[in-house]
Amino acid sequence: MICKEITYNNFRNIENETLKLSPGVNVIHGENAQGKSNMLEGIYFFARGRSFRASKDKELIRFGESEAHLSLGFTRDESERISTLTATIPNQGKKIITRNGAKLSSLKEMIGSFRAVLFCPAHLTLVDGGPSLRRSFLDIALSQLYPAYLDSLAQYNRALGQRTALLRDAAAGKKIDAYMWEIYADQLAKAGARIAARRWEYVGGLSDSVSEFFCEMTDGKEAPTLTYKSDAIEADMTYDDIITEGEKLLFGSITASLEKDIKYAMNSHGVHRDDIAIKINQKDARLYASQGQRRSLALSMKLAEGELSKKATGEFPVFLLDDVLSELDRNRRSYILGCLRHRQIIVTSCEDDHFKGDNVKFITASGGRIIEQ
Ligand SMILES: Nc1ncnc2c1ncn2[C@@H]1O[C@H](COP(=O)(O)OP(=O)(O)OP(=O)(O)O)[C@@H](O)[C@H]1O
Ligand SMILES: [Mg+2]
Repeated sequence: MICKEITYNNFRNIENETLKLSPGVNVIHGENAQGKSNMLEGIYFFARGRSFRASKDKELIRFGESEAHLSLGFTRDESERISTLTATIPNQGKKIITRNGAKLSSLKEMIGSFRAVLFCPAHLTLVDGGPSLRRSFLDIALSQLYPAYLDSLAQYNRALGQRTALLRDAAAGKKIDAYMWEIYADQLAKAGARIAARRWEYVGGLSDSVSEFFCEMTDGKEAPTLTYKSDAIEADMTYDDIITEGEKLLFGSITASLEKDIKYAMNSHGVHRDDIAIKINQKDARLYASQGQRRSLALSMKLAEGELSKKATGEFPVFLLDDVLSELDRNRRSYILGCLRHRQIIVTSCEDDHFKGDNVKFITASGGRIIEQ
């Protein structure tokens, strides 16, 4: 997948600019607060259907303007014709997305058309940080590969929210009909089993790929393993077992925890509590791995995300690196750049001297303007 160009109108601090990209390494450099991350944010918007850092779309609109507009041209491979995605983000009302001129009825229709892997400094804590970081890593990767995964997530989160409201009512002394608890446990178990099966399958592939990258990066002999941990999964289950048996396991654990859940007014069981267990030499990496090993593991997970996307779709995603290289030592930096040598990468950086070679396109960001060199 190659991102050819993107046009920004009233997006963040960019009034009206077109960024043209090369299929190899693209470096957007410039001083702080010039718009480098804004430019990546615009590209990644089409992979996720939302910003990676704004909680509301409205934040993306240039101060004082009523709407932002983005238009992305990309190809599946070098020979294929250019596809276009556009997004209009208004101050009020829903965003409008088009693909090749036709309006899409939902965001879900867009996700998966353009795929990208984002590396930003927050990802360096993927191993050290809480489980929600790792679940969201899986959710973002899987949504781009399987549109139905987004449906399962939406169904699950809706049921979870409704059960939480009911738990609060019950905790406040309101009488709740027993069948209501069954309905929500059933919805959570059905959608949850589909989510767990996909995550489990993904983590299986991830583990092998992470292990390869990690050993290469650290010259190490200690191969890490990643295992998906869930209420829906028992030893030796297959994908199909998780869909059928996992649903029953989830239903059982959600139902069994009702009393406790009412007491604390929270959902203590379900796939929103799942995690990836990461081990090196059978030991929990969060507790025993060195800081350097945990960073290398986190980077390996992002590199592996690209490999799995290629495996599932036949082509590499676009790699977007926001400010992450300056956080790394020289060895890790050159390892990452070496791994991504034959892929399209778009990097933001305050310095441009990390990048050498003929195949690098330099772009300067200055006050929201793009200056090509
Ligand atoms: N909605 C908006 N309208 C106008 N300007 C905005 C908007 N949102 C953010 N900005 C401005 O955009 C500027 C550039 O932000 P950006 O995060 O892209 O900087 P950067 O070049 O990546 O800097 P750094 O090197 O510090 O990461 C900031 O000064 C910020 O105030
Ligand atoms: Mg930035």
